[in-house]
Parts: sequence; structure tokens; C-alpha cells
Amino acid sequence: MRIVLLGAPGAGKGTQAARISERYGIPHISTGDILREAVKQGTQLGRRAESYMSRGELVPDEVVIGIVAERLRQPDCAKGFLLDGFPRTVAQAKALDKALAETGCHLDAVVNLEIDDAEVVRRLSSRRVCGSCGAIASPAGTSEPCASCGGELITRSDDRPEAVRRRLQVYKEQTEPLVEYYSKAGILCRELAVGTVDEVFDRVSQTLDR
Ligand code: AP5
Repeated sequence: MRIVLLGAPGAGKGTQAARISERYGIPHISTGDILREAVKQGTQLGRRAESYMSRGELVPDEVVIGIVAERLRQPDCAKGFLLDGFPRTVAQAKALDKALAETGCHLDAVVNLEIDDAEVVRRLSSRRVCGSCGAIASPAGTSEPCASCGGELITRSDDRPEAVRRRLQVYKEQTEPLVEYYSKAGILCRELAVGTVDEVFDRVSQTLDR
């Protein structure tokens, strides 16, 4: 199964992606995680990406498209994948279509997690992630050590209020047009991203099972 998870910052893409990836046995590919790891390692890519990310801007298309194209060529993607945070612009979506067409594949579903701005701000102002492994703390577990590795929980640098405001603006300007793009392609599944994490996951998996 080849799936894309769309949705505003804080819609719960990373949270749901971990579960979907496990249920369907497909790799979870998060461009945000790849870029954050590059920043942490201080690589050339990380140094280039950091200033965009901390301001809440998108990293340039050519950089991200190259990263994803290379990742999709890995053997674990042969039978499917779950993309989280990519594509984020129409140019990225077209590049993905082209890369898949070259290997005779296509996307099976694009799940759009729908959420309003007030809930985004509420979630991101209290989000904690593991400083070691990057796992997202459950909504109730913000003051505990990481449940996956015991690492310290930290606040992401782009969860500062001004960066969240910019990320929302960038989402509306550059990523929201993808809803129409995939709707026209007939593969868009709209899912309400509110309710408990389990409730959202049940709805998403029922849709994907169909
Ligand atoms: P990225 O890491 O992709 O960030 P994002 O899209 O802004 O999404 P988030 O990770 O903030 O939120 P999420 O939807 O995954 O929500 P989460 O599950 O954590 O990208 C970061 C940056 O990298 C970008 O700004 C850009 O600079 C760059 N980048 C990445 N990809 C790029 C691309 N393709 N092109 C260019 N640049 C790119 O949940 C949020 C919080 O809510 C958590 O605390 C969670 O516990 C909680 N929560 C989750 N579900 C629920 C629920 N049902 N009820 C209550 N709380 C919930």
C-alpha cells in the first residue's frame, strides 16, 4: 500500500503514521524526521535546512524531492510506504507522481487529517518530543521520560508561537492546494483528526481497509 498523510501542523500525522506503519507493515517516511536528524548530526543538509525549519518555512523543493526520491529507491519501499509531511507543495506532488510512474506504481490513498487552527495551536503549545529518538509523547504523557527509549522530552524549536503561526500560514498557502490536487485524482480520503488518538486511528484504518 502506498499512502500519503496530509494535514496541517499538529494534525496528528506523526502520531497516526507510527500506528498505520505498524498495522500495514510499511515504512514510515517523515521528511520532518529526516531533516531534524540531519540538523542534529550537523550535516551539510542539516545546516541548510535548519534556518528554514526554525522559522516555520518550507525547505526548498529541490532539496526535499531529492531526499524522498532516494529514500523511495530503498528495498523496504518496494511493497509500499507511508509518506508523512511529503508532498507539501504541488511541485513536490508532481515530482512524486513522476517518480512513481517511472517504476510503474501509483499512490493508493491520500489521507487528509482535518483540524481547525485553534486545536493546532492548543496541541503544539503543549507538544513534547523525545530529544534522543524523536518519538512524540502521547497527549497525556508530557512530563514523563520518553516511553520508547527513556530519553528526555523537549519542545521542538518550531513549536514557538511565532513559528507555529508561520507554519499554519505556509500550510494554507502551499500545502492546502494538494487537497484539490488529490481530490481531482480521486484518491483523497478526508478524516476528522479530532477525538482520541485511538478514535482517529480506528477511522483512518477503516478507510484504508476499504
Ligand atoms: P514536520 O515535522 O513534517 O512538521 P508538521 O507538518 O508541521 O507536522 P508536525 O510534526 O508539527 O505535526 P503532526 O501532524 O505530525 O502532529 P503530531 O502527531 O506530532 O515538518 C517540520 C518542518 O520540516 C517543516 O516546517 C519544514 O520546515 C520542514 N519540512 C518537512 N517536510 C517538508 C517538505 N516536504 N517540504 C519542505 N519542507 C519540509 O501531533 C501533534 C501533537 O498533538 C502531539 O503532542 C500529539 O501527542 C498530539 N495529538 C496527536 N493526536 C491527537 C489527538 N487525536 N488528540 C489530542 N492530541 C493529539
